[in-house]
Amino acid sequence: MQGTRMLERLVVLAMTGAALGACTDVGPERVVVPAAAPRADRAAAPDDVDAVLRGYLAAQGYTGRVAQTLEARLGRPVDRRLADLGRLLWFDPIHGLNDDNTCGGCHSPTNGFGDTQPIAIGVDNNRVVGPGRMGPRNQRRTPMAINTAFYPTLMWNSRFRSLSGDPFDNRQGLEFPAPEGRTLSYLPQLLVAQAFIPPTERVEAAGFHFPGGNADIRAEVIRRINATPRYRELFGGVFPEVRGGAPIVYDEFARAIAEFEFTLVFANAPIDRYARGEPGALTAQQKRGATLFFGRAGCVTCHAVSGPSNEMFSDFRQHVAGIPQIAPTRSNMTFDGPAANEDFGLEQVTGKRDNRYAFRTSPLRNLALQPAFMHDGAFVRLEDAVRYHLDALGSAAGYTTAALPPDLRGPTGPIAPVLTRLDPLLRRPVALTPDELDAMIAFLRDGLLDPAARPERLRHLIPDRLPSGRTPLSFQ
Ligand code: HEC
Ligand code: HEC
Repeated sequence: MQGTRMLERLVVLAMTGAALGACTDVGPERVVVPAAAPRADRAAAPDDVDAVLRGYLAAQGYTGRVAQTLEARLGRPVDRRLADLGRLLWFDPIHGLNDDNTCGGCHSPTNGFGDTQPIAIGVDNNRVVGPGRMGPRNQRRTPMAINTAFYPTLMWNSRFRSLSGDPFDNRQGLEFPAPEGRTLSYLPQLLVAQAFIPPTERVEAAGFHFPGGNADIRAEVIRRINATPRYRELFGGVFPEVRGGAPIVYDEFARAIAEFEFTLVFANAPIDRYARGEPGALTAQQKRGATLFFGRAGCVTCHAVSGPSNEMFSDFRQHVAGIPQIAPTRSNMTFDGPAANEDFGLEQVTGKRDNRYAFRTSPLRNLALQPAFMHDGAFVRLEDAVRYHLDALGSAAGYTTAALPPDLRGPTGPIAPVLTRLDPLLRRPVALTPDELDAMIAFLRDGLLDPAARPERLRHLIPDRLPSGRTPLSFQ
């Protein structure tokens, strides 16, 4: 223990020096050298923790102010009217050609606009959103859509990305897999381009009956919207061309969806308030967890907060974390591997064998809102996910699906080939005492949660009635 503290002090001293050189917004009041200097008095421990943590945050250039950068980076204020139109579309199955799903069926406000399930259920569902949702599974867990405005790459294998490394800067192009490729690069922000994809996904929303390719599906979605008088009014209220009689076009649909997502920024967590100068924003236990996260436990190496990570706790790169492979008993997708019970992750995008089983480092903000963890929801308790992640090699043999819904409890896919490729940074177990593990969990669960994103604060976004007149999905 004592040795560790000493080490952290030394790191702070070194990092503070570095930060002063590199980072101009670190004011003199943030210089922590005196507080971090060795003291005989053991009662000074709380100060030590603050000094250590402030040192780490300064070294990362962490501001706690990323939310406030949104409009400057968009280059304009968020358009509330457009965003509200996007909200209505989010919940309206009109753009799901199978007539039973929409963004909100998987990205639910009851869970930070993420999944209510360990693995997404798309078309042919029972129209319920929540623990009681039933139907064939897709392949992965739906990530939370909140804060995605700041993600330079999207999806579990980063297959949608802004080549500049900045989602607000399309000058080097926006890259998607075929057939879109770089054709969406003219769109102003990565999320606007992203909104072109979900309605065309057959397992998610389009279903298997409507013939044709992505362009045909989009044309049909837009035909349906144009045929709805209330949508013509709503789009006309925002786009003068539509008011003048022009048909609504898909770009306008995508802009509305993305505008709604721009209103879903929830990055005012205790860690942010702490970084902005509120020492009491984190509890003593959360601070201890944070010092481990940014220090000895090495988490921030991948769950990055500086530079292009936009303080989202991810490097937005792919790593093999050695997660058990969950294979649903009933799926409408074909899984990878000889027994069709695997997910090759990044290899699906690059075609490179070396990229097999690699998934994007999960951004960790608002994690407490998720009902399950990792790309395939292999864990339903945060404690279990973290415990496993600290020592995948040592934990894999003891993994069980017992806590998952019945249709996910079948035999798991092979784990040995996954562990063979485990990221070098995760090969050595991170040893934490039970107290330290509790502190880490407290930091992850509460220190990173923006309370404004809790279900009771977001549920009111679900419309009672939809402009299309369709019956809304039923949110549990
Ligand atoms: C069937 C459930 C489902 C529906 C419907 C759905 N999504 Fe998703 N969404 C997912 C899943 C699963 C992923 C991750 C897929 C992957 O990485 O392979 C995802 C990823 C995303 C992401 C990227 C998140 C990140 O962390 O990178 C965004 C943004 C998004 N969806 C927006 C939307 C929008 C907008 C709609 C409606 C137009 C929509 N989704 C409809 C399941 C769904
Ligand atoms: C080598 C890079 C790397 C390091 C180091 C690392 N992680 Fe991760 N982490 C990942 C990846 C990749 C995932 C997603 C894995 C997947 O779903 O297949 C992940 C997922 C997670 C998740 C689940 C999030 C979710 O949305 O389900 C948590 C929690 C987490 N990490 C916490 C930590 C903590 C705490 C540490 C430090 C002890 C840590 N990680 C160290 C790469 C890393």
